Amino acid sequence: MKYLLKFKHSDYSSQQAIILAGWTNQQESGKGKKKKQVFSPVISHWPKEIQTLFKGVATHQQFTGEMGQSLSMTDSRGRHIIAIGMGLRGKCTFEMLRKEGAKLYNALSSQAEKLSIDFDSFVIKNRRDDSLAMLLEGIGMAAYRFNKYKAKAKPPLLTTIYIDSFNPKITKANINSMANTLERTQMIVAAISMTRDLVNEVPNVLNSVTFAKKVDEDIKSLKKGVKVKILDKKGVIKEKMGLFLAVNAGSSHEPRLVHLSYTPKKVTKNTKHIVLVGKGLTFDAGGYSLKPSASMMNMKFDMAGAATVYGAFRAAVQLGVNAKVSCILGMTDNVISNQATLPDSIIKSRNGKTVEILNTDAEGRLVLADLLDYASDLRPDSIIDAATLTGAILVALGGEVCGLFGNNDKLNKQLLSSANSVSEYLWQLPVIDEFCDEIKSNIADLKNMGNSRFGGSGKAAAFLQQFVGNDIPWAHLDIAGIGDSQGHLPYCPKKGSSGLMVRTLVDYLDNV
Ligand code: BES
Ligand code: MN
Ligand code: ZN
Repeated sequence: MKYLLKFKHSDYSSQQAIILAGWTNQQESGKGKKKKQVFSPVISHWPKEIQTLFKGVATHQQFTGEMGQSLSMTDSRGRHIIAIGMGLRGKCTFEMLRKEGAKLYNALSSQAEKLSIDFDSFVIKNRRDDSLAMLLEGIGMAAYRFNKYKAKAKPPLLTTIYIDSFNPKITKANINSMANTLERTQMIVAAISMTRDLVNEVPNVLNSVTFAKKVDEDIKSLKKGVKVKILDKKGVIKEKMGLFLAVNAGSSHEPRLVHLSYTPKKVTKNTKHIVLVGKGLTFDAGGYSLKPSASMMNMKFDMAGAATVYGAFRAAVQLGVNAKVSCILGMTDNVISNQATLPDSIIKSRNGKTVEILNTDAEGRLVLADLLDYASDLRPDSIIDAATLTGAILVALGGEVCGLFGNNDKLNKQLLSSANSVSEYLWQLPVIDEFCDEIKSNIADLKNMGNSRFGGSGKAAAFLQQFVGNDIPWAHLDIAGIGDSQGHLPYCPKKGSSGLMVRTLVDYLDNV
């Protein structure tokens, strides 16, 4: 999709559709009185000729600007002019704007080739750039498709969106910052699309080796000087990552550890170093603790943690954030062969702790344990991991909310605040001492699951915490629920990778 900013009234002739926001004028009717009010949408900021046209048809159509309404008009030149009801301007949030952008794309992408958005009518809270970012993010995220395996996928008709801003008060500075916002938003959307592409890719194509290669090629294509280090099986053995290797033992693909490092242009003593860690299970069959077939379906998405932190890293690099950022991805599948790790095995981790593997399907925590220990050696200011770690997080929080665990209040708060500011659902759950006790083994230092299913996500987090270096702030995002199929959001596909949490992480990295 091409986006063009336009600041001067000029010929509209090539556009088939013009979109305007119509707001209601209704005031809150105090004291619970049921007032039957006649609404009148705010249209005074629309171009004059459209106002005239609107006044001609709106009264028949009873367009009042309420949320959910829309009014289509056709002008003398045959262009569709669509007014979208947005409700009360004071009640409109940035998330609502993002959703309207997405709905607009979903409704019109097969109706028009080029359309114009009367941007000034969409601005809320007098924050032009934020309003623009939300509309573009909604449109960009909604425009994502994964069609590479369809022989006859129809490309969308819509190719060009004009962002019209004819407000005479627009300054040169406004124009520059809108252009900047457009560019930044496109970087974030591109990163989300990358995350989604990786997650949606099928396991007969995306294995640990090809996954690492894709990431390597993609990050190099940005030409931002990111350092890439990739450990193959030999390298992982050299690092003594016994747990990671135990998960990989049954695989016909070597493991890969991808280690990316970004250094900002200006580095001072105060420059923060953040390490992102991702679970990259390209397929989780469960190993010898085999999953039943229904639960195995879609387990290609078990690398969503790695894809998510990679997406966030990619965006951070493109945006040129001030923090130093490293990204560590552990890639393997979890399958069976005569070499696969047997349940009851005891394996030594990179940091020396021994782990009794009671259930080979609790493999994500094994891979992450060695990665977190490796990440701790970098002595960063914080470590954040993302993983499709437990089915239990769906029981705890539903399929729409991401779980947050951590050992540091400040980091937790920062992440919650980032999630809030980009309107992603993130909820903190506890890691209590009792959970840490429960994962102690009788015959080894630790075991890889608790004694019951209850609080399974917290117990998995408690396991991870054992491998985080002393005093390093660490947070864990359990994205098993929100990694895919977030069809309740108009900017996410009904089925397939959601790309959620990329925005939260980018916001964190951009503000830390
Ligand atoms: N990748 C799964 C977690 C998962 C399950 C994600 C369902 C999405 C949907 C993870 O590796 C796993 O299998 N976890 C087990 C842990 C258990 C054996 C302690 C689980 O959640 O059942
Ligand atoms: Mn598993
Ligand atoms: Zn898994």
